[in-house]
Amino acid sequence: MPKKLMAANWKMFKTWEEARQTARELVVGVRNDLPPDREVLILPPFTALRGVSEMLVQQESFFLGGQNFYPADQGAFTGEISPDQLLDAGCTHALVGHSERRHVLGEQDDFLAFKVSFGLERGLRIIFCVGETLQERKAAQVEQVLTRQLVQGLAKVPGDTGPGELAAAYEPVWAIGTGQTAGTEDIQEAHDFVRAKLSEMFIHGREMRILYGGSVKPGNTPSIIALDNVDGVLVGGSSLNAETFSRIVLA
Ligand code: 13P
Repeated sequence: MPKKLMAANWKMFKTWEEARQTARELVVGVRNDLPPDREVLILPPFTALRGVSEMLVQQESFFLGGQNFYPADQGAFTGEISPDQLLDAGCTHALVGHSERRHVLGEQDDFLAFKVSFGLERGLRIIFCVGETLQERKAAQVEQVLTRQLVQGLAKVPGDTGPGELAAAYEPVWAIGTGQTAGTEDIQEAHDFVRAKLSEMFIHGREMRILYGGSVKPGNTPSIIALDNVDGVLVGGSSLNAETFSRIVLA
């Protein structure tokens, strides 16, 4: 069984000092009680990566990640950040294909496929996000959408990629930031489906982690995290406050 990964996606929130303060409180709040089968990942905004990294020094089971990167080593890509720059700032992980990158920034499956393979080659552990819109769910297209996103987005990833290198996150778009969590049956169905696809595509697909994201709160975490094929959570709004996120981490 892989360790459960409890991930905090701070999106475009927090100054450098606010991020350090939250990270400090979080470490103090959970480090003595963190069960051995749990890990914590913090994904701060880029400006706070170094500051948060300093808070996580020698904290076993705490990891730092980037919310995004551009698939090039360096160059004239104004406003972008490279995998090497993330690694240099102390990151071990990075998200690819978050709903907001797909729907607000317009990133497409073929570009995401390039990003995943590039990030893996440079040594980042990738969390690849998938999930359907409400319209797609209402049209009974959940499996079709997840298949397209997984097959196209992971098309360039070698079949023998290690279980620690690649994880998936199922985040139904309609549950992100809405307070409307998917029901446990919907989560179970989607995670089982993602597991089956990963197992088809990768030798280690059965051991790769699959996180759930979308309005995760302290109250709903225990029932979500107990489901089969749910290997962690990816939390937005409820990760911004250290005390609230500590309750999720320890739930
Ligand atoms: P919320 O927890 O705010 O719904 O955000 C989920 C998310 O997008 C995490 O990546």
